[in-house]
Amino acid sequence: MLKRLLGFLRRLSGLRRISVAILGATGLVGQRFVKLLSSHPFFEIKVLTASERSAGKKYKEAAHWLLGGDPPEPASEMIVQETRVEALSDVELVFSSLPSEAALKVEPMLAEQGFKIVSTASAFRMDPLVPMIIPEVNPSHVSMIERQREEKHWKGFLVAKSNCTTMPLVISLKPLLDAFGLRRVVTVSLQALSGAGYPGVQSLDIVDNVIPFIKGEEEKLQAETVKILGEPFRPLNIPVLASVNRVPTLDGHLLHVFAELEKDFEPEEVKRVLREFKPLPQRMGLYSAPDPVIQVRDEEDRPQPRLDRDYKGGMGVVVGRVGKCNSLTVKYAVLSHNTVRGAAGGSILVAELLREMRLV
Ligand SMILES: NC(=O)c1ccc[n+]([C@@H]2O[C@H](COP(=O)([O-])OP(=O)(O)OC[C@H]3O[C@@H](n4cnc5c(N)ncnc54)[C@H](OP(=O)(O)O)[C@@H]3O)[C@@H](O)[C@H]2O)c1
Repeated sequence: MLKRLLGFLRRLSGLRRISVAILGATGLVGQRFVKLLSSHPFFEIKVLTASERSAGKKYKEAAHWLLGGDPPEPASEMIVQETRVEALSDVELVFSSLPSEAALKVEPMLAEQGFKIVSTASAFRMDPLVPMIIPEVNPSHVSMIERQREEKHWKGFLVAKSNCTTMPLVISLKPLLDAFGLRRVVTVSLQALSGAGYPGVQSLDIVDNVIPFIKGEEEKLQAETVKILGEPFRPLNIPVLASVNRVPTLDGHLLHVFAELEKDFEPEEVKRVLREFKPLPQRMGLYSAPDPVIQVRDEEDRPQPRLDRDYKGGMGVVVGRVGKCNSLTVKYAVLSHNTVRGAAGGSILVAELLREMRLV
């Protein structure tokens, strides 16, 4: 009887859509949030915020919409608010796509007031008490929330998702770590223009060019990878070396990866392990979880940003060029969509996991 009642209540709470706010809603990542959440079964957009420049305008007037067509209803007609606590009174969950400097001030203040925040900003990713969650890789890091609340005296909580370039790297490394063990990782990235936000990189700097530098990005890739692949509060103790480039593609970050494993391997074995990777969100059937999360291609010239970034609506990760450098080092290329999987879509998947765990 009790079991049936609990099942009924669970189904009932599953029907209720959770009220959400998007902070930084007019930016490139904010637009992806608006698009993905406008038709989401569990989350309902209640508030859109941005800077003073946009506050008071209709969303369709404030956002320089870059995703084709028009902004979806009803968001397009909503009035953009200033990013302040007072604007969020009816909201349970906050998706933050603020620039880091703004996030640094706003996010702890909101968490202290009791808001539950999933952030795409880098401001608190390396805070030892803030879990950086990729549901396919480290769902157990959700357990860090309890200590975060205790030690920071927050009524709400803050969860970060990783940098958009770290995302495909760790999703592809996780099955290799589990199956073969990892000793060292070297990676070189080719990152799309949308990774720099809007208006981003000046056209005269990037057309007919590659820029072999993105401020702070190599350090983020190195530190985030070991934090995510480790245990809660205990980063994985391996060296990760990264070199990054900005290239003139619009969306989709491509990385070349050289991973030294602990065991000898055959490339076909690595491909099989990647193809068979079925982590928790896919087993739970979370709404935004792509299944399979990793597509392995055999052609010698894939993945490519233009052809492969939309795999599984931009939520999947595409691997190719799997080969053997020496007895322990596997090389491959990996790609994912930076503003979908690497930002808004990745954050929504985190929120779906938190909902499933009854934390929102
Ligand atoms: N682009 C990516 O691929 C990517 C991937 C992962 C993570 N991220 C992170 O996600 C965040 C957003 O990136 P983005 O590419 O969307 O940047 P963006 O295009 O520059 O958008 C920034 C957004 O923040 C708002 N904003 C700016 N200053 C503000 C302030 N002081 N107070 C409140 N709102 C303010 C802007 O509003 P106005 O329109 O009114 O100026 C806009 O809505 C950044 O932290 C970035 O590092 C980006």
